[in-house]
Amino acid sequence: MGLMRLHPTGKFDNSATRYAHIVAKPLAASMGAEICNVDITRISDEQFAEVRDALFRHKMLYFRGQRLSHAEHEAFSLRLGPFAEDAYTSGVPGHRNVHPLIKEADDQSKMVFGEGWHTDSPFLPEPPSITILRSIEVPPYGGDTTFANSALAYRNLSDTYRRLIQDLRVHFSLRDVLRSAQAAVEERDSPIGRLAATRKSEQLSEDLQRKIRGSHHPMVRTHPVTGEKSLYVDGAYAVGIEGMTDEESFPILRYLSDHITQPAFACRLRWEPDMLALWDNRLCVHQAYNDYQGHRRELYRTTVVGEKPV
Ligand code: SIN
Repeated sequence: MGLMRLHPTGKFDNSATRYAHIVAKPLAASMGAEICNVDITRISDEQFAEVRDALFRHKMLYFRGQRLSHAEHEAFSLRLGPFAEDAYTSGVPGHRNVHPLIKEADDQSKMVFGEGWHTDSPFLPEPPSITILRSIEVPPYGGDTTFANSALAYRNLSDTYRRLIQDLRVHFSLRDVLRSAQAAVEERDSPIGRLAATRKSEQLSEDLQRKIRGSHHPMVRTHPVTGEKSLYVDGAYAVGIEGMTDEESFPILRYLSDHITQPAFACRLRWEPDMLALWDNRLCVHQAYNDYQGHRRELYRTTVVGEKPV
C-alpha cells in the first residue's frame, strides 16, 4: 500500500551516547534503549541526571533486574516530577499513585487495557509527561508493549503536509475506548473491567462524562524540554479535528496514526519480571496486546504530571 518507508539517516539519531555514570544500549534505529549499571533503588544524582537525558534522547528506556516495592517505585517517579492524575485507577491500598495493570489468567476479555495505539490520557487538559511501568509477573510469551516515535514521524512528513497541519487541533476523548470496553471486556475490578461495568449504567458518572467531552490539543506539539516537534495524534483517543466534520477529519487522523505507527518508527519491548520501563508520553505512542490468554500479567505504573500541550 506504499505507506512503509524507512527513514533516511539524518532524521533521527538513536545511537549510544557516552555517559559517565550509566550505559545506554539502543534498542532500535527508531527509538528505545536499555539502561545498564543502575540500581533504581540506589540511583545517584549523577546517574539520575543521565537517565533523564537518555529518556529525552531515546524516548523509551528500560532497566532489567529492578525488584522495587511500591514505595521505591513512587520515590523514583517523584524524582521526575509530581504524580499526574491517572484517568483509570486510584492506585493500590496505601499507594494511591501506583496503578495496577493486572490481567488474570482466566480473563477471557476480547480487549486488554492499553490495546490500540495511544498516548496516555490525552483527553485530560494536562496529560501525563512520563509514564513509568514496572513488571512483576509476565506471560511466557506475548504481552509485549510496542512504541512508536512520533517526533521521527513528524520529521518524515513533507514540508507541504507539515504546513497543512501546523495549526490544527485534535479532539481527544475516552468515548471510543469506553464503547469498546463495554462491548468486549469482562466486568472485573480492573481499570478496563470497571469501564466495562458501565454498560449497565443509566447515566455515566460526571468524571467519565468529563473524559468523554475530553480536550483539544495541538496536532503538532513542541516538547517543553528539548523543543522537538512531534505529532500528537493516536488511534485510540483522537476522535476529531476542531472545526472539521467527521468526514473531513477521519482520513487525516487515520493517515497520521498509520504514519506514526509504521514499523520503521517503532520498537517492541519484550517484558521479563522485575523490569522497569519509562517513556516520554509527549512524543511517543504505544500499545499493549491481548495475546496471552491463559497467563497472568501483573504490572504497576505511575505517571508524572505534564503540562497543557503547546
Ligand atoms: C499502557 O498502555 O499504559 C499499558 C501498556 C502495557 O500494559 O503494556
